Amino acid sequence: MVGLKMLSRRQALSGSAALIGTLASGALAMGRAKAAPGFHGSQRVPYGSCVAFGPLQNEPDYRGALTAYCQQLTPEWGFNWDYVQPAPSQFNFDFADSVLAFAQANDMTMRGHALVWYASLPDWAKDIRGAAEAESALTSHVETLVSRYRGKVKTWHVVNEPLEDPKGGSAASLRQSVWMQNLGEKYIDRAFHLAHQADPAAELLINEYGIESLDEGSTPKRQALLKLVKDLLGRGVPLHGIGLQGHLLDKYEIDTSGTHDFVSEIRSLGLSVHITELDVVDDSLPGAIPARDAVVAARAYDFLDAVFAAARPSMVGTWGITDRHTWVPMYHKRADGLINRPLPLDDHYRPTPLWSVINYFCQQIA
Ligand code: G3I
Repeated sequence: MVGLKMLSRRQALSGSAALIGTLASGALAMGRAKAAPGFHGSQRVPYGSCVAFGPLQNEPDYRGALTAYCQQLTPEWGFNWDYVQPAPSQFNFDFADSVLAFAQANDMTMRGHALVWYASLPDWAKDIRGAAEAESALTSHVETLVSRYRGKVKTWHVVNEPLEDPKGGSAASLRQSVWMQNLGEKYIDRAFHLAHQADPAAELLINEYGIESLDEGSTPKRQALLKLVKDLLGRGVPLHGIGLQGHLLDKYEIDTSGTHDFVSEIRSLGLSVHITELDVVDDSLPGAIPARDAVVAARAYDFLDAVFAAARPSMVGTWGITDRHTWVPMYHKRADGLINRPLPLDDHYRPTPLWSVINYFCQQIA
């Protein structure tokens, strides 16, 4: 198979879809077999996707795609506070339990996303006032979720998106939230200690976006994330790894050296690196599919190449597996009305050049 190394970024960016298409056919064979017979599948970097609740229940093609390609699954919003704990004394595990059952039935694992986030909070949580109330809510939530899935969810995104988006090149700061307002920065420490006490074997991550592009925010955000990580480790917080969401932007090239050096430093701190929500926002790209797919593939190639050159990630996950079900048009609907193409399978479940790129890197033998 023509290795992607042979595919220069220049060729990819110029839209040599034919060449990427060649890779797609090769990778497709590998992808469908999960790991081709004799390919020591256990040495692959696991690939996974978030899972949408309705399609999981109602769409056989969707279920088939998950079983054909994935080794790990993440409920898309099944652990969001507004869904999983709509009232202080009410927990709603049907979404997470259905993903867990499907994963277990298909020799896959399930990841927990996310225990503490500033967003998707139910009104009762938004109305929390005072340290005691916040501590009580945080304790009950984290203990209940992690204990329930103890030994079944091996990796938790404990704190999701703790940093503000830097404005105008300023330094990134800790994001304001009900947790920061009532507990200060130590809410992060508490969340990790509570999760570790509830399941000492679970791998505990911070999950963040916006660190990889040649835009004005990525460099200060990397610097702030690195400082936060070092502060937490210095305080003895049981932090085990970093989730890089990887919502790549068509408008900005990847900062390959900045991303590489950041990942190298994360690894030098003894932390694992997970690509947790990879997709490529394509609303600013021309409509023609070959050219659009080529840029999407090139962004992912540049990002994964920079990461893999610094560390072998524990997993590569996309935030959805098919363009038929993606969050992207929620905020990045295309002006021309064409369907977004951010994911490894198109809206008819056909592998795209993005899948070729992901599969190529996931095959990198340790
Ligand atoms: O809670 C309601 C539930 O009561 C109702 O039955 C159901 C019907 O669809 O909707 C549920 O709300 C969902 C909500 O998440 C739960 O928090 C919405 O459907 C769902 O569309 C909503 O959006 C999700 C969003 O996070 C929440 O902010 C998206 O589907 C999901 O793709 C998106 O994912 C985020 C990651 O968590 C963090 N990184 C960025 C990524 C994309 O924004």
